[in-house]
Parts: sequence; C-alpha cells; structure tokens
Amino acid sequence: MKIKKIAPSLLSADFSNLERDIKMLEEGGARLLHIDVMDGHFVPNITMGPIVIKSIKRVSNIPLDVHLMIENPGLYIDDFVNAGAEYLTVHAESDKHLHRLIQQIKTHHIKAGVSLNPHTPINILENILEDIDLILIMSVNPGFGGQSFIPQTFKKLKQLNKMLRDNNAEHIEIEIDGGIKLENIKELSDAGCDIFVSGSGIFNTENPKLTISEMIKKLK
Ligand code: DX5
Ligand code: ZN
Repeated sequence: MKIKKIAPSLLSADFSNLERDIKMLEEGGARLLHIDVMDGHFVPNITMGPIVIKSIKRVSNIPLDVHLMIENPGLYIDDFVNAGAEYLTVHAESDKHLHRLIQQIKTHHIKAGVSLNPHTPINILENILEDIDLILIMSVNPGFGGQSFIPQTFKKLKQLNKMLRDNNAEHIEIEIDGGIKLENIKELSDAGCDIFVSGSGIFNTENPKLTISEMIKKLK
C-alpha cells in the first residue's frame, strides 16, 4: 500500500542554515526531502549538485528525493546515487532515450522517477510503466519556487490515475510539485496524489513546522 508523504522542497530553505532547517522539517513530520537540481540549461536557474547533496545526506535522517532538472542527466546518475539519492527523478523532456536512462537508475536499486512538464502528455510513459516507481507531475513550469499552481493539472491527474488503473500499475507513486499549499493539498490528495512537494507553501508560512503537521492532517 502507498503511504502519502509530504516532501518539503529545500529550494525555499535558508541555505546558510540547512542543517537547522532539515531538523525542523524532520520534527514537523516530513517523510522525504525534495532536492531540486537545476543546471541553467534545462531550466533558467542554477541550484546545487552532488557535493551539496552529500553534505545534506550527512545531516538528514529522512530519504532524499532528488529532482533533476538538467540536460544530459545520464552523465550524472552515478554521482547523484553516490551522493545519497533514494529517489532519483529525471525529466522525460531531458533525454531522447528515457528507457535506457531509467535502466541506468535501476541498476543502483533505488527508486526511479520520471517527471513531466505541464505541456507533456502522460501517454509517453505508457510503454515504460513496468520500469518506473514514481511519476512526478509538474504543476508549474520548473525552474523557480513560489509560482502559482496550474489548474489544468487536475485533468492530467485524472488521466494519469486512469492510465495506471488500466495498466495494473497503481503501485507507481504519483508526486505533485509546484504551488502546493495547505489550501489545495486536500484536493490534490483526493485527486490521487501520493507525494506532495512544497517549498514556499511551507517555508513562507509563519510556523513551517506546524504547517507540515497541518498538511499531514489533510491527507487522511
Ligand atoms: C520547481 C521545483 C519545485 C519548487 C516548488 O521547479 O521543482 O520543487 O521548489 O516550489 P513551490 O512549492 O514554492 O512552488
Ligand atoms: Zn522539484
């Protein structure tokens, strides 16, 4: 059975106090730490790489959910696995040979995820459902925290749930990323999401720890 999880995005954390913020997220009940890797090519922003993730791993007791928004991800899979990724997600738009890329991740026996930009149809995943553990639906255009949730995402989630049911692939976790807040998390849970990424929706509230526990209550 799938367990619903909050995955706070470190993109909105205080990078001069990462350890403090990670402890706070753990105490709040976060089940995954979402880490956004951006290269300035696939998306118009640059964040962090394996060296920083390795340091995060040293101070975190919860699994690292690494979201690669980079070109040529195949060149770096091994580095991110060695840095401590437990979930490794690549964008379908970032590689011509998605099946091979997924196999590359699976050789390390960690969870392999595929992310789709808002304009990318879900049916491109239909023939590799046997190979993946997670589908990350972007509900904003990737690159920055603090953007507004794109409402058409609900239609996509409906199509995705149907595709998983029709293909006997309901074990695949559905992760949602972008514009997730206390106000819309219940609706997204009802729409069949399992993992909820939230950056500004947690860190920009008055009491981020309390916000996480309030979010968890909405998932029941
Ligand atoms: C955006 C990233 C997100 C981002 C979400 O490209 O993939 O994980 O941190 O930020 P919020 O929750 O603020 O929309
Ligand atoms: Zn992300």
